[in-house]
Amino acid sequence: MIKPVRKAVIPAAGFGTRFLPIAKAVPKEMLPIVDKPVIQYVVEEAAASGITEIIIIVSDSKRAIREHFAANEKLEAELAAKNKTDALEELLKLNRLPRITYIVQPKMGGLGDAVRCAREAVGDEPFAVLLGDALVSASEGAKPVTRQLMDVHEKHGGSVVALEEVPLEKVCRYGIMGGADIEPGVIRAEKFIEKPRPEEAPSRLAVSARYILSPSIFEELDRTPPGKGGELQLTDAMASLMKRELLFGVKYAGRRHDIGNKIDFVKANVAFALQREDMRVEMGKYLQGLLTS
Ligand code: G1P
Repeated sequence: MIKPVRKAVIPAAGFGTRFLPIAKAVPKEMLPIVDKPVIQYVVEEAAASGITEIIIIVSDSKRAIREHFAANEKLEAELAAKNKTDALEELLKLNRLPRITYIVQPKMGGLGDAVRCAREAVGDEPFAVLLGDALVSASEGAKPVTRQLMDVHEKHGGSVVALEEVPLEKVCRYGIMGGADIEPGVIRAEKFIEKPRPEEAPSRLAVSARYILSPSIFEELDRTPPGKGGELQLTDAMASLMKRELLFGVKYAGRRHDIGNKIDFVKANVAFALQREDMRVEMGKYLQGLLTS
């Protein structure tokens, strides 16, 4: 029987070494895209996909993430007293998000280790994983990307990952999946390799920060030795799981903004500002001016 996906795990404990110096005191997941931290977009994507319980994996130094999602009654009262209704509404939106629990990852042991920390909280049911430093927006009119994966899970069972095509010279940055099409946009995985060299890559389809995982992943993680970079890799555990359970890849309708990378972070800010009604015109003029000056 295929169980519904109710819980989402958001790993957000990494050091953010690619984003120093800002990531020294500000968790990279708290970097703003226009006026919201990246992780809020991620939590909102989970909520819009139908997730009702969120588990964020943090390190000791990530207090700002907890503070962001905790209610701040003093500030709410202050805004209400001053009739700042728009600002108050932004705060109240945070209170309406699904319940969030936090688990501290004791030491940085890789993405596989971060997911393993959620074992007790997840229990024996399939769950979503959304990387806390990657924004994935759905195409116009499409469902949120995590929901697109949940739909495939509800139809076929098993585990599911979001895939996007990357140039051959970039396959070494991602988990790369090879397999056979089972329906338009969905492949059944046959090979799955973490950060392969171009000549080893089974395709150019890269895992893109969103997963639905079977709870059997926890046993696989226990058996999986450290992989690339000496870390416990989620991809390696999934590649073993693929031998006994179904694993699918979905070429999702949307695009990913990798926020752990400086240039993409700046691009995401420009792209999101251009999408906003209140900023589009002025931002467009500003960019045109810059380019022609
Ligand atoms: C992680 C995963 C990798 C995946 C990537 C983007 O790598 O290990 O398989 O393709 O996220 O979702 P990282 O970016 O943490 O090195």
